[in-house]
Amino acid sequence: LVHGEDVWVTDSAGQRYLDVYNNVPHVGHCHPRVVEALHKQAGRLNTHSRYLGEEAIAYAERLAGYFASSLDNVAFCCTGTEANELALRLARTATGGTGIIVSSWSYHGNSAGLAALTTAIATPEAFPDHARAIAIPDMLSGARAEHLSAADALASLDAAGVKPAALLIDASFSNEGMPVPPDGFLADLAQRVRDADGLVIADEVQSGFGRTGDAMWSYAAHGITPDIVTLGKPMGNGYPLAAAVCRSDLIERFGPAYFNTFAGSGVAAAVGNAVLDVIEEQALVQSASDVGAYARAELESLTKRHKVLGAVRGRGLHFGIEISGDGTAPASTLARILVERLRRSGILVGRIGPEGNILKMRPPMTFARSHVDMLVHALERGLQEGLPSE
Ligand SMILES: Cc1ncc(COP(=O)(O)O)c(C=O)c1O
Repeated sequence: LVHGEDVWVTDSAGQRYLDVYNNVPHVGHCHPRVVEALHKQAGRLNTHSRYLGEEAIAYAERLAGYFASSLDNVAFCCTGTEANELALRLARTATGGTGIIVSSWSYHGNSAGLAALTTAIATPEAFPDHARAIAIPDMLSGARAEHLSAADALASLDAAGVKPAALLIDASFSNEGMPVPPDGFLADLAQRVRDADGLVIADEVQSGFGRTGDAMWSYAAHGITPDIVTLGKPMGNGYPLAAAVCRSDLIERFGPAYFNTFAGSGVAAAVGNAVLDVIEEQALVQSASDVGAYARAELESLTKRHKVLGAVRGRGLHFGIEISGDGTAPASTLARILVERLRRSGILVGRIGPEGNILKMRPPMTFARSHVDMLVHALERGLQEGLPSE
């Protein structure tokens, strides 16, 4: 790829693609407002946070304003991995525990510690003795019975003499394939962890900044207020900007031990601020809700015409459609064929979930109804070619 603009990317042969997959350019590829903010601040002053500057302080205060008043501290990082690592360190320090609960199909980062906790892909690191993976029940297809329930996970940590430190969870269940748990599932899980003196870390690295259309943060729909929220990918629209947002008492207990050279620089703050400006001025959270609802309706009507399509999943501009097996080929093969056909017709989507059979859509938040129409027509054309004929 050589060029990006709004929801479009162009490759070196001049072929344009509708980007329905990439949630990093949150307010659109190369948004002029963000590019200008970056350029201006880079030409004015850019230092690390050993020197204080107005930009980082003003941005941190503005960002904290999007959270419940208890979440009043922002620690800047450069990647989602760093934010989650810091969140785990904060939780361990505050609770004196080491136990971590994650979901049975999750990814939270690429450090040694987080790679070991990864359950969505194979990593060389062993799943740690102090961690437990729980199933996210799915009202649309049934829970995966081989994994633990929340109560079992906590009981198992207790039996092993491991004190819980935290639940680390993405409330949009993005890597998990967007399962739909019963109402109250996450609130109940969070309460159980808190009853065992653990903290709740909401990983909003993929789904934050209004993507789910119902609120700025995807955990809000579950009625929980986390102790720590981690942010990343969309935060800087492609500039490496991330954060752990948390309660003051957690930072106080942790002490001033965290330093991250490139995090919280003037340029990072200027970029983050510009992203928030665009989200607000273009009413992108509302738009994610409206366009997401339209996409859902259009995809649902497509499922009525094509038996190989299953449930439509997700919220706002974080949505997916399940591909069912057709008796002749596994669902993951059909999903892979469809991703390729879409790419050939100039539309980029991904694939996720334990079976690799859910087409995953997370376009820039400027995605419009006309783009949904392009996606749905291309998907229908791809299905009409027949599956899995080749
Ligand atoms: C839910 C979630 N958390 C954390 C991360 C890690 O973020 P980064 O790649 O910026 O370290 C990812 C990356 O894919 C993610 O999907």
